[in-house]
Amino acid sequence: MKIDVLTLFPNMYDNFLTESIIKRAITSGKVEVNIHNIRDYTVYNNNQVDDYPYGGGSGMVLMCDPIFRAIDSLKEEDTKVIMMTPSGQVFKEKTAIDLSKEKHLIILCGHYEGFDERIKSITDLSLSIGDYVLTGGELPSMVVMDSIIRLIDGVITAGSLDSESFNDNLLDYPNYTKPYEYRGMKVPDVLLSGHHENIEKYRMEERFRITKENRPDLLGGKNE
Ligand code: ADE
Repeated sequence: MKIDVLTLFPNMYDNFLTESIIKRAITSGKVEVNIHNIRDYTVYNNNQVDDYPYGGGSGMVLMCDPIFRAIDSLKEEDTKVIMMTPSGQVFKEKTAIDLSKEKHLIILCGHYEGFDERIKSITDLSLSIGDYVLTGGELPSMVVMDSIIRLIDGVITAGSLDSESFNDNLLDYPNYTKPYEYRGMKVPDVLLSGHHENIEKYRMEERFRITKENRPDLLGGKNE
């Protein structure tokens, strides 16, 4: 998979791309990530990329031309163009799974008051990472990339993906490691029993319990 990111703040990605699983996914060739500065695509004086909104209001709006030029030059036959915006559909694991099968993504990050609405005409999907407004689309784009890249075949051990939060609309079961007792808190005995069936049953019950407690909306299938 190849991911091209369009941003006004390329340095924000330095650590994200050079640590841990994402770094390994890149160095092993499972994913190629290119960060592009939107200013490199402007033909306006003083590298201008944004301007005041028509109709008034505060803040600046990203202009069409630099973005259209960038996408024209980066787009390939099978490209999905994603816009990061708090007005987009809320990003879910299901979308991460679908996007992890794509060949090429272009992710568009806005700042300030967002994008000229006409930019939407050349995008396939608008994504929000939640019901809160951040200073820009960079952190959201990293969230989306992280969740997609870990799902690409071979990036993490396949077994690790089998039972995790949001599979089957349930949150994950709790885990424990050594020591057996810590500050008076013991590991549930069933986990030491070696009885695989009972362990499976306990974990499934815990998934239901935790989901009911923290995300009852998931149990109603309202997370699609
Ligand atoms: N840009 C600013 N806030 C955002 C959010 N919640 N999701 C995606 N992009 C954003």
